[in-house]
Amino acid sequence: MPRSRRPIIQYLTGGMLVATVITLMLLGLSAVADQNEAEPNGHDPDYTRAGADTCLMCHGGDHHLLQIFEGPHAVMADARSPFGQTQCEACHGPGGDHAGPIRIGQPRPPMPGFGDNALWSSEQENQACLTCHQGSDHRFWEGSAHHQYEVGCVDCHAMHERRDPMSIATIQNQVCSDCHTQVRSETHRAYAHPVRHGEMACTDCHQPHGSGSEAMLTAMTVNQNCYECHAETRGPFLWEHAPVAEDCTLCHQPHGSNNPAMLTRRAPMLCQQCHTRLGHAGVGRTPDDLPGGASPSNFTLGQSCMNCHSQVHGSNHPSGAGFLR
Ligand code: HEC
Ligand code: HEC
Ligand code: HEC
Ligand code: HEC
Ligand code: HEC
Ligand code: HEC
Ligand code: HEC
Ligand code: HEC
Ligand code: HEC
Ligand code: HEC
Repeated sequence: MPRSRRPIIQYLTGGMLVATVITLMLLGLSAVADQNEAEPNGHDPDYTRAGADTCLMCHGGDHHLLQIFEGPHAVMADARSPFGQTQCEACHGPGGDHAGPIRIGQPRPPMPGFGDNALWSSEQENQACLTCHQGSDHRFWEGSAHHQYEVGCVDCHAMHERRDPMSIATIQNQVCSDCHTQVRSETHRAYAHPVRHGEMACTDCHQPHGSGSEAMLTAMTVNQNCYECHAETRGPFLWEHAPVAEDCTLCHQPHGSNNPAMLTRRAPMLCQQCHTRLGHAGVGRTPDDLPGGASPSNFTLGQSCMNCHSQVHGSNHPSGAGFLR
């Protein structure tokens, strides 16, 4: 097991860090020499002795990497944080080999995890994250669609950035849509949830780490998901319209559609998937009866069926059985 770390990083900010990094780089050679003395074969397969201080001797000049010091992963005082443990190596795995001395011309051994030449599989990389992130939000990860299709934590998250990109709606929607191109095109249709403007995020409805429900929704069912924001459609209604209580997606396409109100089809076809005109009270009063009536159906004008059945989601009117009021 790794030993405790010298708490140097804790006190560093901005310019100080750069200055210290340069100093450390100058000291670098002697540090490597020390190691050689301690390990006669020059080989330390385990963790480095000085943790991040060793890594930063070579990597400290990369400002992109240093952004990690502004996030929750670099809190030395927090024993749950990587920097309260083995620092860089809490994620990247033991770096003794990689950070150790090498002969001229010899390639530097790669780090175990996270890098173009990393040794770990995506699954092993995920496990490194999951050692710390086992909370309730992650209990459905195993077996989730993303896990099954080998989408890794770092396909979505980035660690060396000032702020987790997933917490910024526009970036999140972008990253998700890069893989889910069909969904992207749906959210660009004429009638859609305001996802493309970043006013809503995929995570308003989905739990990307997996959930107990279909399509990894945040709620247990599609309807409960929709009720979170459209409570008025929940009822209870005196006169309930069966498909509404069953599944909103029988009529609505949640990502967007070219039909008003994100309907899967326009009325009357929408309604006629389930209802027939036969015996309908309106049939006797079709435009055929009107002077010069052009259309054979009274259902094709304007709001179609909703001209009369305006309360499609259900009615609380005593005589609202037909959803007319
Ligand atoms: C003596 C210098 C040196 C030290 C010390 C060092 N590295 Fe490296 N590291 C390198 C070099 C050089 C590369 C690029 C290797 C290559 O591209 O083949 C590299 C590459 C990496 C990569 C992979 C980058 C990629 O895109 O594949 C990671 C991750 C990494 N180092 C992490 C660490 C960590 C963590 C530590 C501390 C435990 C550390 N390094 C210590 C020199 C060092
Ligand atoms: C919380 C986990 C975590 C910690 C702690 C961490 N890294 Fe990383 N690192 C990653 C991941 C994940 C990647 C892959 C690229 C990404 O998502 O940013 C990465 C990428 C890298 C890379 C190569 C790719 C690049 O962006 O240049 C280097 C080098 C590196 N880390 C070095 C370090 C060093 C040095 C430290 C300690 C100061 C450190 N890392 C601490 C998770 C971590
Ligand atoms: C050694 C433990 C440890 C490891 C390993 C670790 N994390 Fe964390 N992570 C934490 C702690 C602690 C927090 C802060 C949690 C809090 O404040 O509630 C955190 C926060 C986060 C956050 C929230 C980001 C934010 O800016 O608020 C994300 C996302 C995250 N980790 C992803 C990852 C990923 C992906 C990996 C693997 C590359 C990883 N973590 C590895 C301990 C760890
Ligand atoms: C498909 C993309 C995706 C994948 C894969 C993914 N995440 Fe996330 N993660 C997100 C999004 C989106 C959020 C929500 C961010 C927000 O709203 O702040 C999040 C939030 C988090 C958070 C902070 C909130 C929380 O749930 O505690 C942590 C920690 C985290 N993820 C860790 C992980 C780990 C560990 C893995 C791999 C086992 C992983 N994530 C895989 C997209 C993803
Ligand atoms: C690296 C590519 C990739 C990224 C990034 C990605 N996904 Fe996925 N996602 C997949 C794959 C692959 C599947 C499984 C095959 C499928 O259903 O298309 C999947 C499946 C899903 C499913 C369907 C789950 C099911 O049970 O049917 C949802 C919902 C989903 N992803 C949401 C998201 C969200 C939200 C994000 C962003 C936070 C995201 N995805 C980011 C690749 C990705
Ligand atoms: C308003 C809620 C909502 C938002 C926002 C949302 N989704 Fe969905 N998504 C759903 C529902 C509900 C389903 C299930 C559809 C069904 O059962 O027909 C679904 C299904 C999916 C599926 C499974 C395949 C499919 O198309 O049926 C994927 C993948 C997906 N969503 C990705 C995303 C991505 C990526 C985003 C963000 C760009 C996103 N969703 C935003 C509600 C939403
Ligand atoms: C996180 C909140 C949220 C959730 C969850 C949600 N919606 Fe919405 N919904 C909105 C917002 C915001 C609008 C846009 C309202 C506006 O533009 O005035 C909207 C608009 C709509 C519209 C009207 C579009 C129009 O053209 O008038 C329909 C239909 C709709 N949502 C259906 C659904 C369905 C079905 C679900 C469940 C799959 C759902 N919503 C889940 C927030 C949500
Ligand atoms: C039987 C088909 C059907 C089902 C099922 C259905 N809706 Fe609708 N919904 C409609 C129609 C039709 C409209 C357009 C109403 C209009 O144009 O007057 C609409 C409009 C909406 C609107 C836009 C604002 C409004 O009230 O006019 C929202 C939001 C909405 N529905 C949410 C939902 C939610 C949430 C569910 C599930 C609980 C749901 N709908 C189930 C047919 C349906
Ligand atoms: C997915 C199938 C489905 C769709 C689509 C659908 N309905 Fe229904 N509707 C039903 C069912 C099931 C009932 C309950 C029938 C019963 O109780 O005999 C019902 C009942 C009704 C009733 C009351 C019937 C009665 O006997 O009092 C009206 C009116 C109605 N629907 C109108 C519409 C309109 C208008 C639309 C289009 C906006 C529509 N429906 C779309 C399945 C559907
Ligand atoms: C001109 C107004 C009007 C239009 C347009 C209309 N309806 Fe009706 N509908 C009625 C009236 C009135 C009733 C009888 C209601 C009652 O008995 O309470 C009725 C009854 C119904 C019933 C209950 C069963 C029945 O036959 O009595 C259903 C189902 C129904 N309509 C569906 C539809 C559908 C689907 C459309 C569009 C294709 C539609 N209606 C268009 C006025 C209309």
